[in-house]
Amino acid sequence: MKKRVLSAMRPTGALHLGHLAGALSNFVRLQNDDNYECFYSIADWHALMSNYAESDRTSEFSYMALTDWLSVGLDPEKSPLFIQSHVKQHAELALALGMITPLGWLYRNPTYKEQLFNVRNKDLGMFGFLGYPVLMAADILLYKAEFVPVGEDQSAHLELSRELVRRFNNFFGDILIEPQPLFTQTPKVPGIDGRKMSKSYGNALELSESADSMWQKLRTMKTDPARMRRTDPGDPEKCPVWDLHKVFNNNESEKSEICSGCKSAGIGCIDCKKKLNAHINELMTPIRERRAKYEGNKKLLDEILRDGALRAEKVADSTMKEIYPAMGLLPRIE
Ligand code: TRP
Ligand code: SF4
Repeated sequence: MKKRVLSAMRPTGALHLGHLAGALSNFVRLQNDDNYECFYSIADWHALMSNYAESDRTSEFSYMALTDWLSVGLDPEKSPLFIQSHVKQHAELALALGMITPLGWLYRNPTYKEQLFNVRNKDLGMFGFLGYPVLMAADILLYKAEFVPVGEDQSAHLELSRELVRRFNNFFGDILIEPQPLFTQTPKVPGIDGRKMSKSYGNALELSESADSMWQKLRTMKTDPARMRRTDPGDPEKCPVWDLHKVFNNNESEKSEICSGCKSAGIGCIDCKKKLNAHINELMTPIRERRAKYEGNKKLLDEILRDGALRAEKVADSTMKEIYPAMGLLPRIE
């Protein structure tokens, strides 16, 4: 029996090399490991919870997320790739779990408290936002997933899913499975201004970038501020270009040459960036090739989503068929 894996991402715009080094490479690795059966969902309901007032690009972002996923090698034959809202059981189970979720669990959730306090440009005081982790629990529990690859920032949400399983099973019988997080190692991936790579900082190297625009961005990247001139020695540990070498350059001897060349002013920053560019380009070549097949091919993307939703729905439906009578609801006569 393969172990089931479920993960999801909110469709919020173009994905970038930070996502690749963190979540996406892990998604692909699990998919290609025969011990696992993976389901990957584009969490559009979750995107609405913060973007409800500016939701006009959500469906465009869903297509973008799917195209980015396919480009990095997620294979819709192996893993159903689907839109959360297409599989109605996500909304149903979230409603059902809501019946037994104590408000205190939600109010105490650190992510909720932190976002409510920090996000100033929109009003997050909504029922849906408070219930974010309940919908996330539904995403996972519907598939009886044993493993959930996520970043450390999701650990409180995962813990709440596990608590909900115990509470549910206690009330209604052993139906749901406690999911384990598989925490994704997220290496430090700075953007071109040296801050953490993030769409909202406008500093990202996107997966959809052409080779030319990738190089233009790398070329203008911040380096160690002490290296004002070519003849000034630098310190790689103070340079975001070096952080990218650490993640995307696996040629150890080249890296040690760069490191000593930087410290002795033996190499210039442009040479260093050219070497980085070559490694990123090599990584991006197959990604660009796959993208070309899918980009803008709405018919093909829709087929993938249709098939993904059907396969996901089969599993989700069979879980809901257990849940309805267990919760005491009268099953519908077929
Ligand atoms: N909350 C997750 C995030 O922001 C996205 C998500 C939604 C998710 N549903 C999920 C992750 C289910 C794992 C499993 O990153
Ligand atoms: Fe950064 Fe490379 Fe320049 Fe050193 S040589 S400062 S590591 S870009």
